[in-house]
Amino acid sequence: MSVELNREQEAVVESASRDLFVAAAAGSGKTRVITERFVRIALTGTAASRTPESVLTITFTEKAAEEIAERVRERLAGAARRDGSTFDVDRAWISTIHGMCARLLRRHALEAGIDPLFSVGSEVELRALRQEAFERAAKVQLAQGPSGTETLLDTVRTGDVFEGVAAAYELCHSLGTDVTDLRRSSPDAGALRGAADRLGEVRGELLAAPTTQTVEANAAALECMIAAIESALADPAAAPAAVAASQRFKQAKRGSEAVKRLALEAEEIVGVAGEQLAQAVV
Ligand SMILES: Nc1ncnc2c1ncn2[C@@H]1O[C@H](COP(=O)(O)OP(=O)(O)OP(=O)(O)O)[C@@H](O)[C@H]1O
Ligand SMILES: [Mg+2]
Repeated sequence: MSVELNREQEAVVESASRDLFVAAAAGSGKTRVITERFVRIALTGTAASRTPESVLTITFTEKAAEEIAERVRERLAGAARRDGSTFDVDRAWISTIHGMCARLLRRHALEAGIDPLFSVGSEVELRALRQEAFERAAKVQLAQGPSGTETLLDTVRTGDVFEGVAAAYELCHSLGTDVTDLRRSSPDAGALRGAADRLGEVRGELLAAPTTQTVEANAAALECMIAAIESALADPAAAPAAVAASQRFKQAKRGSEAVKRLALEAEEIVGVAGEQLAQAVV
């Protein structure tokens, strides 16, 4: 028994393409088309030529996969192939991409070096595992004596460092690269030198303005920032402290238009320098 199909649906079912991607509006008949294509492939073969593993069906949701498997099961119930063999739908590959990957990994758990009883972790479980791994790695680093890690954790909140590491890990993962491919990039010394020099000039211009509390406070803040950049340039281990200094950097924007303009410019230079320093720290 076959089902009614319109012309477009029939074209999809009979498409000679080996690989097929079906995307169409809700309720337009995707499930019906995929089920029918599956059934025809299953029935035209023999036990040897079409095993339940010959067709791979991937759906977006578990529900859709179950629906297709159920409809295929109903359609194939009692249907025999040319050689009289039946088709075991329970062994067919009809699942989400996660389901397919889990099945492959379970089947080859030994080669993959994983526990065959594994389950897919929830977001919450994954976060807890990542946090544990982060803490373990930090302890190992700290046990090795004074290092960039110690300075980093001292100057930036540990939670923020964890978030940064987790985000970098996610990014590597989505790019298909490995974290071991990451290299410590050295700060762009030329750009940082330029930033420190310009901040020095801004400080000079500020001090040339009529002295007020705002001007004095801003000049002092600039002096600290310049010193932080200078020390990071002299020793990369000081970069985390300079990042922290750039994050704390605040200037008052009271006073004359000229003072406000200088404060804004300094803030922008510090922001850019802070980002460059932060990249060197990761
Ligand atoms: N050619 C057709 N003739 C008669 N009924 C059809 C035809 N194609 C689809 N239908 C019916 O339309 C309804 C929707 O079909 P189906 O479930 O295959 O669509 P779908 O694209 O998978 O929907 P969803 O987006 O909700 O998953 C079903 O009841 C199906 O039997
Ligand atoms: Mg559907």
